[in-house]
Amino acid sequence: MERRRILCAVSGGIAAYKTPELVRGLVRSGFDVRCAITASAARFVAPLALETVSGHRVRADLFDRAEEGEIDHIALADWAELVVVAPATANLLARMAIGMADDLVTTLLLATRAPLLVAPAMNVNMWRHPATRGNVEVLGRRGVRFIGPESGALACGWEGEGRMAEPARIVAEVTLALGPRTLAGERVVVTAGGTREPVDPVRSLTNRSSGKMGFAIAAEAARRGAEVVLVAGPSALPTPPGIRRIDVQTALEMRDAVLGEWPSARIVVMAAAVADFRPADRALQKIKKEDLPEGAAPSIALVRNPDILAEISALPRDGRVVVGFAAESHDVLDSARRKLERKGCDLIVANDISREQGGFDSDRNAVAFVWPGGPVEELALLPKTEVAAQLWDRIEKRLGALPRDAGAEPSAGASR
Ligand SMILES: Cc1cc2nc3c(=O)[nH]c(=O)nc-3n(C[C@H](O)[C@H](O)[C@H](O)COP(=O)(O)O)c2cc1C
Repeated sequence: MERRRILCAVSGGIAAYKTPELVRGLVRSGFDVRCAITASAARFVAPLALETVSGHRVRADLFDRAEEGEIDHIALADWAELVVVAPATANLLARMAIGMADDLVTTLLLATRAPLLVAPAMNVNMWRHPATRGNVEVLGRRGVRFIGPESGALACGWEGEGRMAEPARIVAEVTLALGPRTLAGERVVVTAGGTREPVDPVRSLTNRSSGKMGFAIAAEAARRGAEVVLVAGPSALPTPPGIRRIDVQTALEMRDAVLGEWPSARIVVMAAAVADFRPADRALQKIKKEDLPEGAAPSIALVRNPDILAEISALPRDGRVVVGFAAESHDVLDSARRKLERKGCDLIVANDISREQGGFDSDRNAVAFVWPGGPVEELALLPKTEVAAQLWDRIEKRLGALPRDAGAEPSAGASR
């Protein structure tokens, strides 16, 4: 498949030392990346580093006949499907805002018709200066998209807004901007992670689910253009770009969130490991051993949690697709088949948590897709991102087989 083409423009800020990492991340994500740098940028980042990670000669000089001979600046501006400016200095933002074309980078930025994604980086006072604020506003009105800057300790010694967005975040934004839009217009709900059922104010019953699988599924749906709501149990994972996240703790909270989103969803993927049981009573104060007879331990009575997957699968489906997950330690496929029948969902993704590799907290997973009527597709051990892509390929096929107008209320469109 032809690689999508990205021009990375680099200006002269200290954050330019991160640009080779950004370019490497973009190349690893399958993009064809060419770099153009300002004269100041060449003081901060070695062109050779960018050349090595991009696999292309770095362009720096508008008037260099040899450089122009390879691909002239207008051809380069036309070649780009997206231009990423990272870092963008205060100086470059000013030059862009007034439409200057006094070096190669500004000339390219003026000549290109590709969308611009700009990652500013500068001292906090430069960022807050009314001149910079005005330039950002002008560029925003022109359709330029900004990513960051982020807050934190700055290289200049100040603290505050001005750090360039992390390369991984920029890569995710680019992927989102240029990915296939096969789920555009669809509204998706994904649950992820475990739930945490409180015993008292300091203790809880939980499980080992990290949420990585569900987050990968949500990220992939957003990348394909869906409007995604991620209902997440306690997790330190960052929210993938373009996603609305609802954080929950308990199975009951997760149920409320899912039922609340159900009416407007077309696809629901229940990847969360929801606790089957919760303590019957939650102690309002910490249970202390000093309050118990010497040597005694309290017993915790459990009650069943609602079965969210069964509950939503029993609702009128109206063209919706419901996918469940089954994490099993034995009789994996049989258990998954029984679960599929019992719950009445459209697909069960089964994974064997007894395997040494894959499963909880791993970056990889070996799953099987279990379909109604018996067919099973077993996948090899794959990165969870790839499992997510394979799952969406299957769901898209299934959606294609369903009448498009049946189902959820039409979405108002993605909110990003
Ligand atoms: C050590 C050093 C670090 C700098 N860091 C930044 C920066 O992070 N952001 C910025 O806007 N300017 C920064 N500057 C100032 C720019 O390099 C200067 O404005 C330059 O003219 C930018 O040129 P360009 O926009 O053509 O790349 C820095 C200058 C020096 C000497």
